[in-house]
Amino acid sequence: MKHIFQKGTDITAPVLVLFHGTGGTERDLLPLAQAISPTSSVLSVKGNVLENGMPRFFRRLAEGIFDEEDLIFRTKELYDFLDQAAVEHGFDRNNLVAIGYSNGANIAGSLLFHYPDALRGAILHHPMVPRRGIQLPDLSGIPIFIGAGQNDPICSPQETEELQKLLSEAGSTVAVHWEQAGHQLTRSEVEAAGTWFKTNLV
Ligand code: MLT
Repeated sequence: MKHIFQKGTDITAPVLVLFHGTGGTERDLLPLAQAISPTSSVLSVKGNVLENGMPRFFRRLAEGIFDEEDLIFRTKELYDFLDQAAVEHGFDRNNLVAIGYSNGANIAGSLLFHYPDALRGAILHHPMVPRRGIQLPDLSGIPIFIGAGQNDPICSPQETEELQKLLSEAGSTVAVHWEQAGHQLTRSEVEAAGTWFKTNLV
């Protein structure tokens, strides 16, 4: 998969794996990595799917309606890519923390829904429930931050609460940060994610 790898100054710090939103690129979230853990190595990935020219991490049938078969296929493709990238770039495969926004948060959520060892933790900005009706792996010891907007028209507060419940029931410790905002990513949400990261992952 197309990606950027930047080696950090502290190779023991979690490696931040970045997943952009629909229409974004692997450059979009680099400033977030700098804000959250400036000494970390960074692997920033570009989605392999195009929707009317806009990069994404999996196909959707309509706004908010995912192509489940493609979601499962792309989640496995990404999981395998993380294994390969760890060998290629020489980072610790077991020390990855995802930062995803919107469609990127949804693919990070899907990694958590399908694999017990894909990630050591995750910061999900405005995620949805990636799949329903499946048994989640054991996620105990995997802390997750969810940033959500009270007025988000794409990820409703009810869906955020449903996601929090599913991840908590799988054993994860989930922190939800609410903004009086919509789907956009605000500076105060990023600051809250940074504070959470320092408490839970360093
Ligand atoms: C998705 O398709 O993953 C969600 O609707 C978020 C987005 O608009 O990308």
